[in-house]
Amino acid sequence: MLYPDLSKEDKEWIAEYDEMAEGYDQAVKQYDDWLGINMLEERQRFSQFVPIEDTSRIMDVSIGTAANFVALKETFDDQMRRLDLHGLDVSWGMLRVSQRKAMNIGLTINLTHGSVFNIPYHDNLFDVVLHTGGINTFSDIAKALNEMLRIARKGGFVVVVDEGISPTLRETERGKQIIKANSLFAAKPPLEHIPDKAKDIEVSYVMNDAFYQIVFRK
Ligand SMILES: C[S@@+](CC[C@H](N)C(=O)[O-])C[C@H]1O[C@@H](n2cnc3c(N)ncnc32)[C@H](O)[C@@H]1O
Repeated sequence: MLYPDLSKEDKEWIAEYDEMAEGYDQAVKQYDDWLGINMLEERQRFSQFVPIEDTSRIMDVSIGTAANFVALKETFDDQMRRLDLHGLDVSWGMLRVSQRKAMNIGLTINLTHGSVFNIPYHDNLFDVVLHTGGINTFSDIAKALNEMLRIARKGGFVVVVDEGISPTLRETERGKQIIKANSLFAAKPPLEHIPDKAKDIEVSYVMNDAFYQIVFRK
């Protein structure tokens, strides 16, 4: 049971994610050749937001198949024990894939079924709140960003990445082709929905200029 109930639009997306969960990693791999990127290496860059010592609590909101944590494991290797990993998703299919992958590679992730619009965690808990790949299609982007900020601790990072090509790429033939092939790449960073209380807001473009990245702090 989710409260509040999801919109029809959200439910349609989630049904799609549920159906594609088993094949999701394979589908995303196609981005590597098409966009000229190495998605695993791109995800490893999130390690820059993790405090360099002591226990760090990290939440991946809309964890999907746990690809961000798999990438962090490659980077942190024997330091993984100091990372307290949490993942939330509303798709049971995605959560099942995450659970299986985590078990296979000896990763401990606390997985929760829930919605980004009402994250079932207390305020001020996480050093890093990560979200990749879903926000463009969320029915209430402001609410989602607000929830991400709420669960971040004071000074903690919220990192949001989704399809949306850079202004420079938008002007090029290649940019136009990317948008024609997948209209999600036409999205612009939803800056108007960032909570007023967010600090140190930074916008950049990653993954060969094909995805926007918004970083802010609590
Ligand atoms: C494109 S996938 C991205 C998965 C993963 N973060 C990644 O980078 O590969 C979008 C994810 O958002 C999840 N999602 C969609 N609506 C959600 C909601 N309201 N609350 C939580 N997760 C949601 C989907 O189930 C799916 O796992």
